[in-house]
Order: sequence, then C-alpha cells, then structure tokens
Amino acid sequence: MNVAILGGAGRMGRMLIDCAREQGLNIVAVTEAPGHPLIGTPACGDIRFTDAWPENAEAVIDFTFHTCVIPNLANAVRCRQAYVLGTTGLDAAELAAVGEAAKSIPICFAPNFSLGVNLLLALVERAAAVLDESYDAEIVEMHHRHKKDAPSGTALGLAQALAKGRGVSLNDVVCYGREGIVGERPAGQIGIHALRGGSVVGDHTVMFAADEERVEITHKASSRAAFAKGALKAARWLLGRAPGRYTMRHVLGFEG
Ligand SMILES: NC(=O)c1ccc[n+]([C@@H]2O[C@H](COP(=O)([O-])OP(=O)(O)OC[C@H]3O[C@@H](n4cnc5c(N)ncnc54)[C@H](O)[C@@H]3O)[C@@H](O)[C@H]2O)c1
Repeated sequence: MNVAILGGAGRMGRMLIDCAREQGLNIVAVTEAPGHPLIGTPACGDIRFTDAWPENAEAVIDFTFHTCVIPNLANAVRCRQAYVLGTTGLDAAELAAVGEAAKSIPICFAPNFSLGVNLLLALVERAAAVLDESYDAEIVEMHHRHKKDAPSGTALGLAQALAKGRGVSLNDVVCYGREGIVGERPAGQIGIHALRGGSVVGDHTVMFAADEERVEITHKASSRAAFAKGALKAARWLLGRAPGRYTMRHVLGFEG
C-alpha cells in the first residue's frame, strides 16, 4: 500500500512514520505545513518533507490541525484517495466537509484509533443503557500540556456513546466543567472535565456514581503507537472500499 503521512513532523506524524516502516508499508510522501523549517529535509529513507499534495498515494493519513482538513479533503477527493482522519477539534463546517467528501471517497474518521478506546466506547454505550439516570455519568480526561483542543475528541466520543446508550441527545444533557454556584446536579446530566499537564499521552475515565456504588471505566494510553497502529490498520481496511464515512468500530468489526 502506498501511503502518505500528513503532518509528518508532529508527535503523531513521527510515530506513524516509525510504525509504517516497521510494518513494511510504502511511504510515498510526508507533508508538513507550508513554511515549516523541515520542508526539503529528509523525513524517512529517500522521502523528504514536502508541502505539496501527495498525488501518488493510495491512502493519506491526516493527524494535523483542524483548519487543514477542508483543503486536504478537497485534494483527496480530486485524487480519489482513501482518507484516514485522526485530527480532532473540527468545527461544524469542517465536520460537514467530512460528510460531503465521504460521498466520493472512503474516509475513516475516529477521535481515537486505539483498540482499547474503541472497546471502551462500546462498553460505555452498553453500561449507559444498563445504569439508569440514578447513576451520575461524568467523564474525566487528561492530556499533555501541548494539546490544543479541549475536551479531547475521545472524551466527546465517549459522551456521545453515553448519550446513545441512554437514548438522549448529548446537547440536551452535557455540562462542560463546573464553576461557581451551579446548584445541584440535575439527573441525567453528562459532565466532561479536561485536565492538561506534563507528557500524558491520553487518559480517559467514565464514571457512573450512584448513592450506594460507583462504576469507573478507565483507559490509559502509554504510547502514541496505539493510535498509529490503529490508523494504519484503518488505511489498509479502507483500500478498495466504497465511498462512505467509516469509524474505527467498523474497522474492528464492532458494527457495520
Ligand atoms: N484520533 C486519534 O487517535 C488521535 C491521537 C492523537 C492525536 N490526535 C489528534 O491529531 C492531531 C495532531 O496531534 P499531534 O499531537 O501529532 O500534534 P502536533 O502539533 O505534534 O502535529 C501536527 C503537525 O501537523 C503539521 N501541520 C500543520 N498544518 C499542516 C498542513 N497544512 N500540512 C501538513 N502538515 C501540517 C504541524 O506543523 C505539526 O507538525 C491533533 O488534532 C490531535 O488531537 C488524534
């Protein structure tokens, strides 16, 4: 498989290059932002960092920044490329562009590509269906100090899974942090809290707190390889698929 890595100098980009090489995949291009100091310097093997679109790739893997996603999708549609989208923090217009592009190319979009977190999503949906609103649901996430978006895409995905399990709309029940005289916690609320510090790769805990017991489900990523390996698995899975918007749960066979 000919694969291109977008944002190759980033934390995830570097890990993707290492994992792709370990797996013997053919990296045909590694991109960086226009003006990036590494443009033109070696990225891996004979490949140099470029700011040109990788037209020769069968699949592109995007872990960049949300504002890059719309132009990147337009290029991938033009070149009929499979698209693995790991970038988080997309706004409404960027999310709509993903849906539009998925009419023309296969896209796997996941806020978290690790096997463990995708299992967690399925477990949380099930737990939320079993544990009724007398179990207060709260999500706590922690990431390294460099992370730009909050709460994490994974925390939002977990909140969506909780809401789905309870058969409610997340927007109606979500609470992003608390400060001041906020009053008593309403039944059915889903709280999300973002901690930032150090080099934490990604911790997520979903709690269900009742009067007499508390259930906590936690995932801790200790290496970005967990995400990179999942993204490469998704790239392989996408090749030859019909256009559409897929998630990691499709790739792993949890649904669809
Ligand atoms: N889905 C997942 O499993 C998962 C896991 C980890 C991180 N992420 C997300 O992936 C994104 C990247 O995370 P990171 O920690 O590697 O960030 P990072 O800042 O270390 O890397 C992003 C890289 O993209 C580059 N970039 C910016 N604009 C570009 C452009 N136009 N073309 C090419 N490259 C460009 C930047 O220069 C940088 O090197 C974030 O949105 C993060 O939340 C997702």
